[in-house]
Amino acid sequence: MKTSHANAADRCGIKLPVFQAGMAGMAGPALAGAVSNAGALGHLGGLRQPPLRLRQWIRETKALTDRPFGVNLVPVWGGPEVFEAQLRVVLEEHPGVLSLFYGDFGAVIPRAKAAGLTVMVQVGTVAAARRAFDQGADMVIAQGAEGGGHLHHGRIGLLSLLPAVVAVAQGRPVLAAGGITDRHDVRALLELGAAGVWVGTAFVATHESLAHPVYKRRLLEATTDDTEYRTGYSFGWQFGTPHRVIPNRERWNLLRFIGGGARLVDAPRVAEKLSLFAGQGVGRIDSIVSAAERVAELASGFG
Ligand SMILES: Cc1cc2nc3c(=O)[nH]c(=O)nc-3n(C[C@H](O)[C@H](O)[C@H](O)COP(=O)(O)O)c2cc1C
Repeated sequence: MKTSHANAADRCGIKLPVFQAGMAGMAGPALAGAVSNAGALGHLGGLRQPPLRLRQWIRETKALTDRPFGVNLVPVWGGPEVFEAQLRVVLEEHPGVLSLFYGDFGAVIPRAKAAGLTVMVQVGTVAAARRAFDQGADMVIAQGAEGGGHLHHGRIGLLSLLPAVVAVAQGRPVLAAGGITDRHDVRALLELGAAGVWVGTAFVATHESLAHPVYKRRLLEATTDDTEYRTGYSFGWQFGTPHRVIPNRERWNLLRFIGGGARLVDAPRVAEKLSLFAGQGVGRIDSIVSAAERVAELASGFG
């Protein structure tokens, strides 16, 4: 019998069960292409990408790699019409994998599967995992409270969430997400039943991400104690959506209340003032490396 991590990689047509999170603003063609070329699954962050631009990104990624990659979509941005247009682009361009976050995907999953895509849904509760599987998801990503960026629920630690989601998965692969940085995390999560790891912050800290240098510097400086769970304002999301940031504590800076991921194209002044998305594993990120090096480090945990 195949082990579950081979199962997760096989289902996506990749060699290594390492999955780079689809991160809005941070994960473009260069990162997704490099991760997929390294044998893992790269992912484009589709949130905030107008449909035409998303199509262009998918084509640019295809020019960089002939391996499968994923596109991540989140319907909260732009409303149902924009989401439908983004989805059509993904169905037509067929990157291989579609990952979904924040929403009820009962109508979307069968369409994506009929188009031959592997579908995964990121969830923060057991009830949402059960629903995603019932709706036909091929895999679920169990997102623990440790995670950076937006959190679906965000109040259950991975140590408790992952085995509970694995218990309802009935053999279908469950990826672990939240605070994962290196091979030691991977080994521990394998013990808990993970079929693969879904990693965000550690891939922001790579040469290929679209993160602003100020953001990358903050990731290197931050310690394990430095992230904060918030429910206030964050770019492109409904007020009150939970998220985890390295808070900016400058007293007279109103932008500090905004959670965001400062991009290369943002002014340094904005990057300096935002509270920046990061997971609790940030304390163990001590260098900016290539995406391929990050993949190799994580993959070595599968031994
Ligand atoms: C900068 C950043 C942006 C993110 N954007 C998205 C997104 O657009 N869609 C999504 O499904 N998850 C997004 N996430 C959450 C990730 O999918 C994942 O749950 C999280 O990164 C895991 O925790 P880690 O950052 O500690 O690895 C984002 C995370 C980060 C750090």
